[in-house]
Order: sequence, then C-alpha cells, then structure tokens
Amino acid sequence: MSASSVPVLTIDGPSGSGKGTISRRVAEQLGWRLLDSGALYRAVGYAAGAEGLDLSDAEAITRCAQTTKIRFQAVTDGSDTRVLVNGHDATDELRTETAGAAASAIASIPSVRQALVDMQLAFRKGPGLVADGRDMGTVIFPDAPYKVFLTASAAERAKRRYKQLKEKGLSVTLATLQREIEARDTRDASRTVAPLKPAADAVFIDTTGMGIDDVVAKVLAVVRP
Ligand code: DC
Repeated sequence: MSASSVPVLTIDGPSGSGKGTISRRVAEQLGWRLLDSGALYRAVGYAAGAEGLDLSDAEAITRCAQTTKIRFQAVTDGSDTRVLVNGHDATDELRTETAGAAASAIASIPSVRQALVDMQLAFRKGPGLVADGRDMGTVIFPDAPYKVFLTASAAERAKRRYKQLKEKGLSVTLATLQREIEARDTRDASRTVAPLKPAADAVFIDTTGMGIDDVVAKVLAVVRP
C-alpha cells in the first residue's frame, strides 16, 4: 500500500476539546495507528528547556527540533503510551502546563514546524492513521479522506483539564487554567504559520456538554457512516 492510499482521519481542535482521549479511543476501535502531534511539539519544547535554550531563539530551537530523538513506546497494561525524548522517559513532564506553554511557543516558529513534517508523515502506514493535532487536516494531511474539528467552550475545556490535573495530584486553580487556555487559543489561532482553524472539508463537532462515548460515536460515524 503506498502511503497516499492509507486512509487518514484527522482530528484537529484546541487544547481541552477532548481530542487526545477521543483520538485514542477512535484509533483503538478502528484498529488504526495514532499520531499525537502535540507530543512532538511538547517533546521539542522539553528538550530545548533541558538544554537551557531560549525558547524565542528560532535558530537554536530549530536545530533542537531537527536533532531531538522522539520515540513513542506502546505499553501493554493499557496505560498511556510512553514518550522517550533523547532516550529519557519524559511522558509525565510532557503533560504539564509548563510543557504545553513551551510547546505552544516553539510551535509558532515556521522552521520548527517544518522540521517535524517528515516525522509526522512517516506515521501514515496501513491499515490507517488517526492524526490528532492543530493542522492535521489543513497542512500535514490535506488529502485525508476523513476530517473532524472538535471544539468546546473555554469554560468547559478548563473544567476538564482541571479534573485531569487534580486526578494527577497537581495543584492548579480553575480560573488560572481558563486564562491559560484562552491565551494559548489566541496564540495558536493567530500565528501566521499553520494557525488553528478547521479545514474547509472538516466535520465540526462542538463537544460542550457531551459525554466521551457520544463524541466517539459521532467521530466514528464520519469514517463509517
Ligand atoms: O495538543 P497539545 O496540547 O499536546 O499541543 C501542545 C501545543 O503544541 C499546542 O499549544 C499547539 C502546538 N501544536 C501545534 O502547533 N500543532 C500541532 N499539530 C499540535 C500541537
């Protein structure tokens, strides 16, 4: 099967729209591979931090994106896939708000995005791929036959994130989270390269007030009507 004949379902949307959970569940149900593209940006931000680089130094961060070794390691006990950054298991560090903010900052550098393109395209292997991100349907897999754009109100996304972080024992306030989410949305939507916006041919799903099972069913229906 040539790469371009492998079906891709792109799931784009802002942070906290439920993309991560929904993408994982949908990939499991379809028996397809999963690309968590946000983890790549988080990994580069993390590696840059570990090297003490200035996140606004485009040249240094681009070099870092080109050389950082990122590996996803599936686990058999049903828990999260581990993400190895230059050989170090950074899964837990990558999920923090600090890593998210660093990822958002470096993601606005065009040459950093370019450095991650081939790595993302390489995930397109049979029997199919679920690609989770911001620009999956618009930039990375514009020819994908199935495209979804998930969203939810900022208040609801902040509440979901708050619950997740509390469960992990991290201390945050709801108001701070909502402010951070709104700031990140603005940055992701207003950057000049690959801004967060739905592909013209994406199915738009507002998940505010919806349960995970209902969203999964709606997304699956896009692939198997
Ligand atoms: O989905 P996430 O929260 O893990 O993504 C972290 C940041 O990475 C997000 O603020 C924007 C950036 N990102 C991106 O620019 N393009 C992608 N395809 C995925 C993530």
